Amino acid sequence: VIDLDDAEARRAADPSDMLGAVARLASDARRGYETGLGTVGLPDVDDATGIAFCGMGGSAVSGDVVRAAFRDRLRLPVETVRGPELPEWVGRSTLVVCSSYSGNTAETLACFGEALERGSRVSVITSGGELGARATSNGLGVISVPPELVAPRAAVGHLTFGVAGALEAMGLLPRLGGDVREVEQVLEGLAPRLGPEAPTAANPAKQLARRIDDRVPIAWGGEGVGAVAAARWKTQFNENAKIPAFWSALPELDHNEVVGWSAGSGDRFFLVCLRTSLEPPDVSARFRLSRDIAESAGILAEEVAAAGRGALAQAFSLVLTGDYVSAYLGLLRGFDPTPVEAIDRLKRALAGA
Ligand code: PA5
Repeated sequence: VIDLDDAEARRAADPSDMLGAVARLASDARRGYETGLGTVGLPDVDDATGIAFCGMGGSAVSGDVVRAAFRDRLRLPVETVRGPELPEWVGRSTLVVCSSYSGNTAETLACFGEALERGSRVSVITSGGELGARATSNGLGVISVPPELVAPRAAVGHLTFGVAGALEAMGLLPRLGGDVREVEQVLEGLAPRLGPEAPTAANPAKQLARRIDDRVPIAWGGEGVGAVAAARWKTQFNENAKIPAFWSALPELDHNEVVGWSAGSGDRFFLVCLRTSLEPPDVSARFRLSRDIAESAGILAEEVAAAGRGALAQAFSLVLTGDYVSAYLGLLRGFDPTPVEAIDRLKRALAGA
C-alpha cells in the first residue's frame, strides 16, 4: 500500500497529477468567475421564465450547485437536465445552458440542437469540441474553460463559477464578488490542511480515506448544498477511487433508506455525514437520529463539517474535501485517480453504434 506522505510514491501513482488539480480549485473558481463575467455574446434574458441546465457527469454538477447555492437569489426556476431530451416546458423564453467539458458529449449536443430548434436563449460552457464549434458557428458566445485540465471532474471550479459569472453578467444573479472571495479564502485555508504535503497524522482527508479502507462509502447531505456535495462525493469515489458508492439526502432518506439499516446490514459500509450550518434544525436532529440507526446496523460513520458561512463556500469546502478523500482512497487502493476507462469505453461503443 502506498505511503501517502511519500511525495515520490505519490508522483508515480498519480502521473496526471489529479491531486495538483484538486489543489487548484480556489484559483479555478476565481478564473472561472472572471471568464463568465467577461463572456461576450451572452443571450438577452430579460424576459426569461426558466433555466434548463444541460450536462452529464462532471459537467452537470455545476448546474446542481448553482440551483442549490442560489435558490434564495435566483428569481427563475432551474432544472438540471441529465439526458438527451429537453423537458416540454423549455421554449423560446427559456435560458438553456449547455455544459460539456469536452464539448463532445452526445446528450448535451442533443439538448443543444433541440434548444436551437425551439428558439430558446442558448448559452454554452465548454473547452471546445463539437459544442464549441457549433455554438460559434451559430453566433453564440462561449464561456470558455481551459482545454488542458486533467479531466472534466477537475473542471468543477471553472464550470461552476463560469456559469455563475455569466448569470451575473446576464442580470440573473446579483453581484457575486463577495461570495467568490469567501470561496477563495475558505479553500485556500483548507488546502494546506488537506493537501498531499500535509502528513497523515495532521491531515483529516488522508485519515478519512484510510478509515474508509475497503468499505463502501455512502454520503449523506441535507437537502440543498449538503445533498449536492453528497452527490459529488459519490461520483468522485466512483471515478477517483474506482469503487461503488452511494448518496442520499435528508430528510428524504428518513422516509425510506433508514428501513434498510437493520442489524448487520451496515457491516460493509462507511457513512460520511456532510454537515452545513445552513441545515434547518429539523435536519440537524434527523442527522443524529438517522446516524444512530445506521450505526446500530454495523455501519462505521464520520461527520465532515463544511467551512465558511455562505452557501457557495460551504458547498465548495465539502467538494474540496471529498475530492481529496476520493483521490487518496484511489491511491490507497492502488489506482491512478485520473483514468475512467469504463466511461471512455462506453462513449466509444455508443459513438460506433
Ligand atoms: O467525469 C467524467 O469524466 C464524466 O462524468 C464526464 O464529465 C461526462 O462523461 C461528460 O463529459 P463532458 O464533461 O466532457 O461533457
